[in-house]
Amino acid sequence: MKIDYQEPSKDLLMRIDIHEKYGSANIDVWTNELLQPKAGMSILDVGCGAGKLSFLFDDYTKRGAKITGGDFSEELLDKARAKNKERGSNIDFQFLDFNEKFNFEDNTFDLCTSAFAIYYASDLKFTFGEAHRVLQSPDPSSGKPGGRLFVSGPLPENKQIFYDIIKEATNAEIPPMPGSSRFKGDIFNTINGIFAKTELHKFENHLTFPEVAPFIDYVRASLGEDRKLWTSMFNGKDEYEALIGKIEAVAQKWFDRDGKLVMTKVVGGILATK
Ligand SMILES: C[S@@+](CC[C@H](N)C(=O)[O-])C[C@H]1O[C@@H](n2cnc3c(N)ncnc32)[C@H](O)[C@@H]1O
Repeated sequence: MKIDYQEPSKDLLMRIDIHEKYGSANIDVWTNELLQPKAGMSILDVGCGAGKLSFLFDDYTKRGAKITGGDFSEELLDKARAKNKERGSNIDFQFLDFNEKFNFEDNTFDLCTSAFAIYYASDLKFTFGEAHRVLQSPDPSSGKPGGRLFVSGPLPENKQIFYDIIKEATNAEIPPMPGSSRFKGDIFNTINGIFAKTELHKFENHLTFPEVAPFIDYVRASLGEDRKLWTSMFNGKDEYEALIGKIEAVAQKWFDRDGKLVMTKVVGGILATK
């Protein structure tokens, strides 16, 4: 299945900012506690975007890990490289299309991560096969375990209120995100079929919006025309603005009734060992 998906950097950064401002829990803390990356490790972050996870691991390991971030968006890679320079860190940000063979030798990395990205892969078996190939094999003579894969993504119950409000506003069933609809099923099963050991972890973050405006900012940063994810719901700029207007009216009604809008992000983390 080919998924024609684009991620404009302004939308991605807006969503990250909203999670940080209105969230009850910090996904970075959860990720670090789960993975505990160490100095000396070689880490590949696939679909790194503007480098959020790569910088997180760089900080956590006190710049001691060798980190490579790969993405197919030159716009986001440029953002990541600019920040890399500004921080004086040494992460290697490079072009990587996860639908193609990864440009690395077999058995290269201790950890391969992908946050909210790799589940858009066209051929899951191929892409996770590539992740498996570039991860270190276990070494029975030294007892060293195999490299680990970590993939995070939305679970089907993710941000229910977002879908409910849009459904009430449009009278239409909005198409599920390609990620969330496949995460627990196809994606977990594909990884489980390739890796020696696979676990599913869960993270919940309650975003409490004290007014409607930041919720609408979130809607715009998710439903943007140029993301090409939900274009079946509108045709052109005027229809898009009309749709946002309807969503805003329903969100306001819910807000007036409940005094707040709480959107719960429910994220799955698949952790697998080669
Ligand atoms: C939602 S963003 C997540 C970015 C980053 N991991 C983060 O957590 O902020 C999804 C990322 O997947 C990237 N992406 C989508 N398709 C890709 C592909 N075929 N190859 C590499 N990256 C891809 C996008 O460019 C974008 O950076």
